[in-house]
Amino acid sequence: MHRGRFNYSKQLQSQKKVKCSDMTTPPLPTAKAMNIVGAAATAAGAQKTVLITGVSRGLGKALALELAKRGHTVIGCSRSQEKLSALQSELSSASSISSDSSKNINEHLVMNVDVRSNSSVEELARSVVEKKAFPDIIVNNAGTINRNNRIWEVPMDEFDAVIDTNIKGTANMLRHFIPIMAEKKQGIIVNMSSGWGRSAAAQVAPYCASKWAVEGLTRAAAKELPPGMAMVSLNPGVINTEMLQSCFGSSAALYQTPDSWAPKAATMILNLTSADNGASLTV
Ligand SMILES: NC(=O)c1ccc[n+]([C@@H]2O[C@H](COP(=O)([O-])OP(=O)(O)OC[C@H]3O[C@@H](n4cnc5c(N)ncnc54)[C@H](OP(=O)(O)O)[C@@H]3O)[C@@H](O)[C@H]2O)c1
Repeated sequence: MHRGRFNYSKQLQSQKKVKCSDMTTPPLPTAKAMNIVGAAATAAGAQKTVLITGVSRGLGKALALELAKRGHTVIGCSRSQEKLSALQSELSSASSISSDSSKNINEHLVMNVDVRSNSSVEELARSVVEKKAFPDIIVNNAGTINRNNRIWEVPMDEFDAVIDTNIKGTANMLRHFIPIMAEKKQGIIVNMSSGWGRSAAAQVAPYCASKWAVEGLTRAAAKELPPGMAMVSLNPGVINTEMLQSCFGSSAALYQTPDSWAPKAATMILNLTSADNGASLTV
């Protein structure tokens, strides 16, 4: 953690935007069978299908539950099977809050996927097509960060995990899902960036590099999309998640919770249109 080496609070004051995470060793790289949760559709207006990566905790989970509560259909993936199973019933309960028996029943899809694995993401895409659960919106949220360290002290496997998850994981999603969306000539893709994708900080150089890459990847790929689609990068702000706690320690508690962040983020994401293509946005 090495929190004594520099003053995060001071850094925060000067930069206003930040983030961080715990580098836990990643487990199972293969996609597992899809779990389906029945839920009630809702809401006047467009009910959307939103695919979110990294839903086991933090921002991804809070966003998934907020969308389900609003009557949208969630396709969620991450690696921890135990947390996915819990999320499955939480999504169902969240949807039932907005349940309206006069509306069609929708299904949330929860799947064990490691975004670093091209074949795992390919299996997710195959399942989505088989189920005809075509996403209107994709949020490439799964991410990780190196433990606080100067670049020459960051172990090679940690550097690799940050690049493999944040950059290659996003690219794996784009590889398999842009063709699916492009066929329908519609779809919004949100690539989770960071304040540190637009500024820099000591001790998180691998993470900064990965999020600057997400910004560049997004701007370039946006130019390749067919009309009707959009891709944006999104800095979520500073939120008290496990990732932030690993960077900020107890100071993370000074920041907003994922539950208070999710309604703002959901409204913003649901209102994106093709006119936003290529934008760098902030919640
Ligand atoms: N919190 C902030 O203040 C903040 C600020 C700026 C940007 N962000 C960005 O927002 C996103 C979410 O951050 P967070 O704070 O919610 O982090 P978090 O609490 O650490 O959650 C990260 C999520 O990503 C999943 N994940 C990690 N590696 C994965 C992989 N290889 N395949 C599939 N899923 C994976 C994790 O689930 P499993 O471990 O179960 O797979 C978990 O659900 C990240 O992209 C982060 O960089 C956060």
